[in-house]
Amino acid sequence: MCGIVGYIGNQTAKTVLLEGLRRLEYRGYDSAGMAVYDRDGFNVSKKSGRVANLAMEVGKRELEGSLGISHTRWATHGGVSDSNAHPHVSSDGKIVLVHNGVIENFGDMKRFLLTKGYTFESETDTEALSNLIAYHYEKEGRPTNGFSRFFMAVRKALRHVEGTYGIAALCVDCPEEMIGARKGSPLILGVGQDEFLLASDVSAIITHTSNVVYLNDDEIVSVTRDKFQISTSSELGVDAIIDTVNWKIEDSEKGDYPHFMLKEIFEQPAAIENAMRGRFSDDGSTANFGGWNLSPHELRQIDRILFTSCGTAWHACLVAEHLIERFARIPVEVEYASEFRYRNAPLDKNTLVFVITQSGETIDTLGALREAKRKGYRTLAISNVVGSTIAREADGGIYQHAGPEIGVASTKAFTSQLVIAAMVALYVGRLRDMSFASGVKMVEALKELPDKIGRVLKQNDHIKDIARRYAHYADFLFLGRQSMFPIALEGSLKLKEISYIHAEGYPAAEMKHGPIALISEDCPSVFFASNDEVFHKVISNIQEVKARKGKVILVHAESCDVPEGLVDDAIIFPDGHEAIIPILATVPVQLLSYHIAVERGCDVDKPRNLAKSVTVE
Ligand code: M6R
Repeated sequence: MCGIVGYIGNQTAKTVLLEGLRRLEYRGYDSAGMAVYDRDGFNVSKKSGRVANLAMEVGKRELEGSLGISHTRWATHGGVSDSNAHPHVSSDGKIVLVHNGVIENFGDMKRFLLTKGYTFESETDTEALSNLIAYHYEKEGRPTNGFSRFFMAVRKALRHVEGTYGIAALCVDCPEEMIGARKGSPLILGVGQDEFLLASDVSAIITHTSNVVYLNDDEIVSVTRDKFQISTSSELGVDAIIDTVNWKIEDSEKGDYPHFMLKEIFEQPAAIENAMRGRFSDDGSTANFGGWNLSPHELRQIDRILFTSCGTAWHACLVAEHLIERFARIPVEVEYASEFRYRNAPLDKNTLVFVITQSGETIDTLGALREAKRKGYRTLAISNVVGSTIAREADGGIYQHAGPEIGVASTKAFTSQLVIAAMVALYVGRLRDMSFASGVKMVEALKELPDKIGRVLKQNDHIKDIARRYAHYADFLFLGRQSMFPIALEGSLKLKEISYIHAEGYPAAEMKHGPIALISEDCPSVFFASNDEVFHKVISNIQEVKARKGKVILVHAESCDVPEGLVDDAIIFPDGHEAIIPILATVPVQLLSYHIAVERGCDVDKPRNLAKSVTVE
């Protein structure tokens, strides 16, 4: 949610910033802007709309400066307009700032600053902070222990902020310094050859360097042309750890695909292979996780697991619930992170708290994790982004290794979360009642997954053809039972987020308790079925829809005996172990949603109102 890129080095900042913003655009895309320190001062450009609009604007300007900051916005305070776009310059012209997060007490700040003569041009919370930094710079700032007056002013202003921020700032009197800071919103420092970059995530800097410092909450960094120094609100100058990122540049590029989403759907066999790599025991009967940080003995003391997350990751939690209760026989609860963090839920003493998050930065999930830690619970995270805040703050974790997911609609991250959920069920199950033979069966089934997903992907043209025939409908129902219910929820979320079609997911049998009122020839249903004990019940639910003239697309396992002529369209996935069926059933609906959205002319990778990483509450 909002992307920040800052640059100081030998190259033309304008070019570096634009390239970084294009790579970060998936974080927010309602407006974009940059400030370059050029000759004697800031040159600020900001434009509502996509980064391409900003590129046109700055393309007209001769900007040679090699120090600059930039931003791509997802609006929180103030509508989408050029004046609300970042950067924001303080009214005395001294400070320029880009910000990701929400300054909750900006109203108080603004009232105070108005009394001091500062003025405001935008409706944003960020402008209050740029003015507050300017205030401290003018009134009280002085260099201390080798830190500049500008740095001391930023540090002082941040002490007054309630809320969250990732920021990059420049000062008109300091052509050799850029400052970054974070609390609750991500910010990393890229350490290159004779250059430094600040960015909200790795994708913006990967073409320059793979050496990064993940800033921690409450840290503030001063970056000059030849060095950087990190401090906190209580200590000047603290040690920094430089990590190496192992992404390849191609991972964050579309290649020959028209959209990241399609590329990422097709990357699923490889992503799943990576999630499993090196994680099965030598005897092939269980899973192993390096970062789990919980001994088998400690795990045996756990009586209950709480999973908590948001959006698609929450659907992964629901599948995990099904698999862990089924194979490990531990009671599992699933909560929305946004509810859990404020609900003060009583938890059993021996509860393990698990969060699932692709980005590792989702603010509600982070809040839930912190709340669980505060109460003394053991916490684990399944996350895709190495070094993300949640991955670092959880007591232990399992990385997905799915590679960067750029499309706003989560696809490969979801299926790799389901694979890890199945492996957790296997591992915990084998510590309890699951036999060696059952463990071996499950491992073999998981190993077959990449190939089976490849077989589903071969139906792309068939699914595209179905999509063409259904793209004009305004409403859809997605219906499934047991572990297929979360897949129905995921299918409906995928469709609505990228095609803006109204869609609802329900347990198939619940349909009779209300949603059936929606069924008509204008509201198609997507059903999910595998060859299990509820298959015939699902067929009865389909009959009920057909009796009301509803069209039905059935996503089903190969061996299901579907009555001839019952459904209007079918997408078949290979049979398999119960643990992998939800994954195989997901891929067809990802493709269906994708092709429907393309058919409707939607911007698949950047759906309206959404952002990839939700770092505001
Ligand atoms: O990064 P996270 O997994 O924590 O993100 C959670 C949700 O914001 C995310 O899954 C969202 O629902 C996606 N747009 C779904 O496609």
